[in-house]
Amino acid sequence: MQKFVIRGGRSLSGELRLQGSKNSALPIMAAALLCRDECVLRDCPALTDIYAAARILNFTGCKCTFSDNTAVIDPKEIVRTDIPESLMHEMRSSIIFMGAMLGRTGECVVSVPGGCELGPRPIDMHIAALEKMGVDISSEGGRIVCRIPKRKAHGAKLTLAFPSVGATENIILCAVTADGETVINNAAREPEICDLCGFLRKCGARIQGDGESRITVRGVEELHGCEYTVMPDRIAAATYLSMVAAAKGELILTNACVPETEPFLSVLEQTGCSIYTGKDKIYLRSAARLRAVRERIRTMPHPGFPTDAQAVLMAALTAAEGTSVFEENIFDCRYRHTDALVKMGADIQVLGKVAIVKGVKRLHGASVEATDLRGGAAMVAAALSAEGISEVTGISHIDRGYERIEDAVGALGGDLKRFGE
Ligand code: EPU
Repeated sequence: MQKFVIRGGRSLSGELRLQGSKNSALPIMAAALLCRDECVLRDCPALTDIYAAARILNFTGCKCTFSDNTAVIDPKEIVRTDIPESLMHEMRSSIIFMGAMLGRTGECVVSVPGGCELGPRPIDMHIAALEKMGVDISSEGGRIVCRIPKRKAHGAKLTLAFPSVGATENIILCAVTADGETVINNAAREPEICDLCGFLRKCGARIQGDGESRITVRGVEELHGCEYTVMPDRIAAATYLSMVAAAKGELILTNACVPETEPFLSVLEQTGCSIYTGKDKIYLRSAARLRAVRERIRTMPHPGFPTDAQAVLMAALTAAEGTSVFEENIFDCRYRHTDALVKMGADIQVLGKVAIVKGVKRLHGASVEATDLRGGAAMVAAALSAEGISEVTGISHIDRGYERIEDAVGALGGDLKRFGE
């Protein structure tokens, strides 16, 4: 079992090039299944979740190789349409293979992703939408068996009860080669949806309205392959900015997607940090002491404040002057990092979906365990700013989303070492 040992209290300064977005790369890898020839994805982050997606592709008969942040996917031959439970469980977002597999072959067998560290994560909206598009879906021994009687799905007018990212992606993936037109009302507007649509359009798909709440997809006969560069990771940007805000110092992020990171930056700016942005650069100089954020920080679907940045910003605000209040509106169990932050000296009270963070003078080092990806990153941010040494275990969660985090922190002058097998 590996762990991070972090000696806190050093300021962090330097330049980092942002990794490609995990949450874009995963649905794009699934989308490659729909193509008739090779796809080359550049800036694919080297992460355990990406390797899990590559294993799923290889299992189906696609040939996926990965090196130097480039995934080459040859989807010419699909020999399997059932994804084993073990692969499905490696990452929750494997469910987006459902829409892609249905679009390509008209059938698939997947597993219920079940609950995860963020609480129950139902897929009712995915299922209801696909059924309206002509997919027969039944549950057999814990497996979800999907079949389109006519082999091809048909377009439909759909309205999501909530702008779910995964449901929007699954519908788009099933709709791009369906018969007729699919309209998604109340679609998710996350930038990663636009990136997926950008890839699909480059392969010949006809999609309009991504980035808005009404997306229209007109089915085409088939998609060809393409070369595509995955967008930068706005959540990794939020994470490294929070780390430097917490530990003090200066950061230049390059390969940044600035407009997409704006909902986070506008809140971080209220802490007194100086932030300047260029075309694809973000510069931050931390405040001598952060100020609490006056307004309640409510996580919302994009373009609201991202739930994935809630934990890392909270880590930075634990030692701010004054009290900050968070409201988590997307996931039921997204405050699991707070116990670890409290162990490091933070003053946090959780009341249902609200967390009240009273700034303390300084955190101290402690042994803590990461229980989810962003919560784990928050523990690293807190440990870097704390006095003394911290140990963070459970770091496989962190490796799901951050490429070589020890190198990134080391390049900024932080003292974070990985130990163990
Ligand atoms: N939901 C339902 N029914 C559904 C689908 C979703 O009730 O059929 C609920 C979920 O349980 C959750 C909420 O709706 O409470 C939002 O879920 P959504 O479907 O939007 O999220 P997701 O597609 O499962 C993606 C990201 C998450 C990110 C969320 C919200 C990927 C691989 N995952 O998840 O990223 O937090 O959107 O922006 O894209 C992360 O990177 O750490 C992460 C968790």
